[in-house]
Amino acid sequence: MADDATTIPDGDARGRKKVYIETVGCQMNLLDSELVIARLRDEGYELTTDIDQADAILYNTCSVRQHAEDKIYSALGRIKNVKKRKPGVSIGVLGCMAQKDQGSILKRAPHVDVVIGPGQLGRVPQLLEEAKREGKPQLAVSLDRRAGTRETITASFEGYDPDREPSMRPSPFQAFVRVMMGCDKFCTYCIVPSVRGPEQSRPPGAILAEARLLAAQGVKEITLLGQTVNSYKHREGDGRTTRLSDLLYAIHDIPGVERIKFITSFPNDMTDDLLQAVRDLPRASRYIHVPAQSGCDEVLRRMKRMYSASFYEEMLARMRETIPGVAVSSDFIVGFCGESEESFERTVGLVERARFKNSFIFKYSRRQGTKADALFPDDVPEAVKKRRNNDLLAVQTAISLEDNRRLIGETAEVLVEGRSRSTTRREGWDGTDQLTGRTACDRIVVFEGPEELVGRFIRVRIEDASAVTLFGRVPAADLAGVPA
Ligand code: SAH
Ligand code: SF4
Ligand code: F3S
Repeated sequence: MADDATTIPDGDARGRKKVYIETVGCQMNLLDSELVIARLRDEGYELTTDIDQADAILYNTCSVRQHAEDKIYSALGRIKNVKKRKPGVSIGVLGCMAQKDQGSILKRAPHVDVVIGPGQLGRVPQLLEEAKREGKPQLAVSLDRRAGTRETITASFEGYDPDREPSMRPSPFQAFVRVMMGCDKFCTYCIVPSVRGPEQSRPPGAILAEARLLAAQGVKEITLLGQTVNSYKHREGDGRTTRLSDLLYAIHDIPGVERIKFITSFPNDMTDDLLQAVRDLPRASRYIHVPAQSGCDEVLRRMKRMYSASFYEEMLARMRETIPGVAVSSDFIVGFCGESEESFERTVGLVERARFKNSFIFKYSRRQGTKADALFPDDVPEAVKKRRNNDLLAVQTAISLEDNRRLIGETAEVLVEGRSRSTTRREGWDGTDQLTGRTACDRIVVFEGPEELVGRFIRVRIEDASAVTLFGRVPAADLAGVPA
């Protein structure tokens, strides 16, 4: 049947519907998008990167800062016309912002067909179908954190992890595995506990089965995910407890898994058994992301981080003593409520002493529904937040550059991730293929080499460095036998 100008049928000539997805936010969201696409693939959808070809347009959203939400609301504004042109197209808002804003999304953007929170993502195909059948938008969110008992709230955040879709992974040989859902820390600035629900550790059997499945699909690098991943604890019926270190040992034994990482760690839960596991397991990445957020005790108290700056520094010393050469990275929030110039200077001091591999620095963004928003005025002017952000970044960048330059002349073992994007190309680049990979301590290395190296471990001699990238060369002898 030929298309006419007003009605465009769903799906292509073979009847397969196409889905387009955009993902913002953290690694949890990248993983969720993979699982959603896997579910839809089982229902006959195929993935498209062309929004104009799509029968379903999905946004997997983030609420951690205002900016992340603004991006999605403006994308929703832009696609209003797509819906006008092609009324059959389904539009979905998934993830954290769906859980936070719920029905108000439909008021702001009436052309949206489904609003689905992170705890309901297993139902995406069914809800898209229901929205079509009933001709009205569908809303599926989990219970509010004050709307029931811990058990009922937890049950409303359903797990759906075993669905996997290789094409949605960072690369064919890298995959995420969720070990924990939700968060119970309730840092006062943070929306995550409200939108991701109560902390739950997945049973080790399910995690290991998933890791084995991924290894069988050719995955070499597994990154374990949790908001506070080092708080992982699962109690078995017989009273035995599995910790993150136990998981590392068990995954280390799976044939094919050559590198294991875990993000994000919480300072108070950095136990010695975990540090020793990272030290003793050759395939564990010697890299730990453990956000400090601030270097000022008064600010940390208002953030309810439950540690002091000196506790954090002692933890760092313990990490470095246990795991020589460990690379540590951090997150910081600048301009949090009541952050004075002295408070900020304490953070600068911490960054100067800690020598992080890198730090992610964010300007405080007030989030409705959080303790900080209810208790403290957002009293640091935007211009001051901006300046502190730039200043702290400059301090961190100088340290990253200095530490990276110290590596010049050394040879690193690199897992080759893929072609390098032009932004990381070395000055004076002569047009030869450039590849990118990471060292065991998570440093990015760019070097020349044939694409056949992607997915392999190779040695790279470091010849130059910027604050974010090392540049190197593969010894000619190591390239012998690799097709050019
Ligand atoms: N679970 C992780 C990270 C969660 S969100 C942890 O506890 O470290 C990632 C980062 O976003 C946080 O580490 C924090 O630095 C930042 N962040 C969270 N809420 C924020 C807010 N309201 N404004 C600005 N940055 C925020
Ligand atoms: Fe947010 Fe704190 Fe939980 Fe991290 S630990 S997700 S910052 S509440
Ligand atoms: Fe954002 Fe949700 Fe992750 S709020 S940072 S996508 S857990």
